[in-house]
Amino acid sequence: MDKIVIEGGIKLKGEVEISGSKNSALPVLVSSLLADGKSVVHNVPGLRDIKTIKTLLKHLGIRIEDKGGDVYLDSSHLESFEAPYELVKTMRASVLVLGPLLVRFGRAKVSLPGGCAIGARPINLHLMGLEMLGADICVDHGYVFAEAKKLKGARIYFDTPTVTGTENIMMAAVCAEGRSVLENAACEPEVVELSVALNRMGANINGAGTDTITIDGVKELHPAEHTIIPDRIEAGTYMIAAGITGGDVLIKNFPFNYMDSIVMKLKEAGIFIKREGGLLRVTANGNVAHTNVKTLPYPGFPTDMQAQFMSLVSIAGGTSVIAETVFENRFMHVSELRRMGADISIEGHSAIVRGVPFLSGAQVMATDLRASASLVLAGLAAKGITEISRVYHLDRGCAKVKRIKA
Ligand code: EPZ
Repeated sequence: MDKIVIEGGIKLKGEVEISGSKNSALPVLVSSLLADGKSVVHNVPGLRDIKTIKTLLKHLGIRIEDKGGDVYLDSSHLESFEAPYELVKTMRASVLVLGPLLVRFGRAKVSLPGGCAIGARPINLHLMGLEMLGADICVDHGYVFAEAKKLKGARIYFDTPTVTGTENIMMAAVCAEGRSVLENAACEPEVVELSVALNRMGANINGAGTDTITIDGVKELHPAEHTIIPDRIEAGTYMIAAGITGGDVLIKNFPFNYMDSIVMKLKEAGIFIKREGGLLRVTANGNVAHTNVKTLPYPGFPTDMQAQFMSLVSIAGGTSVIAETVFENRFMHVSELRRMGADISIEGHSAIVRGVPFLSGAQVMATDLRASASLVLAGLAAKGITEISRVYHLDRGCAKVKRIKA
């Protein structure tokens, strides 16, 4: 069984370049379903989740050629409108094919995503949006069956901002008859990037990045070329790696435009952050300040940074409160951090983190992608050896982790 073994206590020093964003690449790759012909996506990260979505797209009939981070897609020979369980169960974001398949075929059969460690993560808002656009939706035997001769523009209100829900409905509405208005839409940079890619394909989308997105349906889209933005969560994770080890790291390809909440909170935690031209230097002196954080939809502090931030403040001088407001079960890393000596208690949707002088290496288990990253960070700072098992979670979103096979 794969595991990662870390000898902690070493100050990280050096340079790192941020890869393309996993959560931007996934919807952009899927959007190639919407246009007949050859498209190109640059700076695609080499991750397991990306491999999974490419497998699904190939299953649907898209011909894919990979040249490093450049992915060439040809959607001229689509063969299926069905996304089977065995593919969807491995990655929830597969549900993003629902809208595009409905546009291309007038129907779609997509497996309901399976359970997830961090929460129930229903797709009711995705289905509500499609119904508002005029699709007939039926859920049966674990599959969503959607049908619509022609989608019609509508005003759609999301009870809660949903990133992939906004992306799915945006893709479904681009060729609908008339205007669609998405209200209480997600504002994440990945949603903005998808709108940029779709507009390059001939769509007419305005307002992405705000909570109200207007889409005027067009007759059809044409293939285009797009470059994926840097991954803001990867960038924030490397910043914490420098901070938690008292190191000095120079970050290349840093996504300056989307990092305000993360930069502010890390500065509060005592990390020194300085822009050097197009690069960012992150240094720390080993003294972490206790800091409270509340996860929120963008531009708030990202839930995908919550576990990593908890590792950092677990060695702070003082007590920090971390409130998780996006997912209902995103504290699985707490019990593993406790095994390393962290002093954390959970009260409802908040974790009370009482800083300890140091963490100790231990055998721990990864439970989801971001929890795995938090354990790597804790292992880097801990005294002694940390062994992390079930690291296939890490492969889903981290390309650069060196592993020692057991
Ligand atoms: C996206 O997931 C990201 N994944 C997640 O990153 C991220 O944590 C999440 O957004 C929040 O920022 C991708 O972009 C591929 P949501 P998504 O729909 O779209 C509820 C990672 O580690 N909800 O914005 O699935 C839901 O339960 C992953 O890279 C409904 O109730 O998240 C949650 O409480 C983890 N009904 C809230 O909305 C719905 O139909 C936000 O979820 C949809 C969502």
